[in-house]
Amino acid sequence: MHQTPQDLRQIEALLDFYMDSGVDCFLGDDPVDWFELTNEQLRQRQQAQSVQALPHANRGQPDPGSQRAQQSFAANPAQARTPPPAVARPAPAGQAAVIPDKEIVSAARDLAASAATLDDLRACLEAFDGCNLKLTAKKLVFSDGNPSAKLMFVGEAPGRDEDLQGKPFVGRSGQLLDRMLEAIGLDRSSAYIANVVPWRPPGNRTPTPQETEICKPFITRQIELVNPDVLVFLGAASAKTLLGVQDGIRKMRGRWMTYPGQGREIAAIATYHPAYLLRSPLEKRLSWRDFLSIHAKLSDR
Ligand code: URA
Repeated sequence: MHQTPQDLRQIEALLDFYMDSGVDCFLGDDPVDWFELTNEQLRQRQQAQSVQALPHANRGQPDPGSQRAQQSFAANPAQARTPPPAVARPAPAGQAAVIPDKEIVSAARDLAASAATLDDLRACLEAFDGCNLKLTAKKLVFSDGNPSAKLMFVGEAPGRDEDLQGKPFVGRSGQLLDRMLEAIGLDRSSAYIANVVPWRPPGNRTPTPQETEICKPFITRQIELVNPDVLVFLGAASAKTLLGVQDGIRKMRGRWMTYPGQGREIAAIATYHPAYLLRSPLEKRLSWRDFLSIHAKLSDR
């Protein structure tokens, strides 16, 4: 059908509207009401997606965890009403969605532990298919900055700009982080930056607890390999994941804690996430205090 410039403008306006509303990723050709599917339809869909739980360790063999999950979907009517685990878009051929379970977390742990260097760890993540976020992300966002730096920042998960560039904190919040570093006389050559979750969650949603658990061994190993003197958690999420603390960021920020490094305790502190500071600029006063404290701690080392 011939499209007029008027049609194209309307399509463009619609896409702009979607973008402004936060819709920025494609989910599928047809809507699926997961609550209306019968057990049989659900089973067929899962088969079509050829779910594999452990792509590295068990490729080609059925994984007990995913089999269990599939059986329980089919066998228990109450669970059959539960929407299946998030598969953000149909997996492209050769890439199968996984059901997050303990076996995947354990595979992630083994894989991360096998990395002897940061390059190995990046390669492990490039090859790891155990986190469904990889299916919707454009790039792996591994790290930026200097791996020999004394100072390491850990955020929660990449956003749109980071996903496009494959580097953490390069969007508006990253630019603010750069200005904060500059204020204490530092820049990215004197800091190493990473996230707990290295793939962008679709639409910038919060990573699920399962996604975080699956990715945690990799950031833990990354911290071990960088072995910084000072670890800064940007926002409560990364501090909660890696320190196991439960306090909210208001209570937690600015307080020195310790992170169990390899054979030594690493000085650790949480501060406001720069994205929060962009929304609440008055809180920059407190962040400034935190950054002065970080500067002083680095001078002690
Ligand atoms: N927010 C994060 O937590 N990490 C990024 O890399 C960007 C924004």
